[in-house]
Amino acid sequence: MGSGIAQVFATADFEVELVDARPELVARALDGMARSLERVARKQEWTAGRAAEVLARIHGGTRLEAARDCPVAVEAVNEDAALKREIFARLDALAPPAAVLASNTSSISITGLAAATRRPAQVIGMHFMNPVPVMRLVELIRGLATSDATCALATDLAVRLGKTPVEVNDAPGFVSNRILMPMINEACFALMEGVATKEAIDTVMTLGMAHPMGPLTLADLIGLDVCLNILEVLHRDLGDPKYRPCPLLRRMVEAGRLGRKSGRGFYEYPEAPRA
Ligand code: 3HC
Repeated sequence: MGSGIAQVFATADFEVELVDARPELVARALDGMARSLERVARKQEWTAGRAAEVLARIHGGTRLEAARDCPVAVEAVNEDAALKREIFARLDALAPPAAVLASNTSSISITGLAAATRRPAQVIGMHFMNPVPVMRLVELIRGLATSDATCALATDLAVRLGKTPVEVNDAPGFVSNRILMPMINEACFALMEGVATKEAIDTVMTLGMAHPMGPLTLADLIGLDVCLNILEVLHRDLGDPKYRPCPLLRRMVEAGRLGRKSGRGFYEYPEAPRA
């Protein structure tokens, strides 16, 4: 999702420092953004050269020191709480004192991430939805210490990106994944128990409930590892067995069938880049 976030910032005329752990991941992100921008340019009838201008505003690299002059940093690493806390502590040491530090986490506590910094009032959740260039929502998550000024800044920012911000409080899975993940998990149980085929389950939800994609197709888009991580956070932090991850979902993740990004999840994606 990091590349989608970088893309929407650059499209809104911001200069972007995109940082990833390895050069090949930076290259893959730049390549993905080029393809996505082509689609946006075609759809919105951009003038020739605008997509290249947007791409030129994104500077890729592997050193977090690039955040030294950034007024806002948006973290979008894996859903690994320890890793996120480490990144927040490093960003806190590097970024200007007035900078706001945001996380695109799908379920990890913003209050906990803020506690890894000396600026908890300037830490907020900015939860984008996949695919970021298309989806209009940004879920804004207020941690225990997040200030009104930080909320106002993140709200303005989301509007400048062409998104609609919705403020929610810091609770496991926030609103989006508290509601979405149990549906995806239930679809996995239905498949595991032989209630119907994957195609039938998805068709019931697309034709019957007017969802743009069925829950198993959506899980492949999000990433099955991400879905499992979120369910584990819901299960552990809310302590209710109704959130227990489906064993089939666990097996798929163990098998490396992570969805689109690995070329195979519930469905196969021969064209997708291998993880
Ligand atoms: N970049 C740019 N444009 C894109 C794009 C991308 N990555 N992906 C799709 N588009 C554009 C296409 O160009 C197309 O434009 P057009 O209408 O002018 O042709 C439009 O979006 C629709 O795309 P497609 O025609 O390829 O396919 P669909 O009509 O099936 O739409 C979809 C694709 C927008 C992904 C739609 O299926 C959808 O809305 N699915 C549900 C997505 C969803 O629920 N996301 C939330 C996931 S939860 C999450 O992210 C939170 C996390 O914490 C887990």
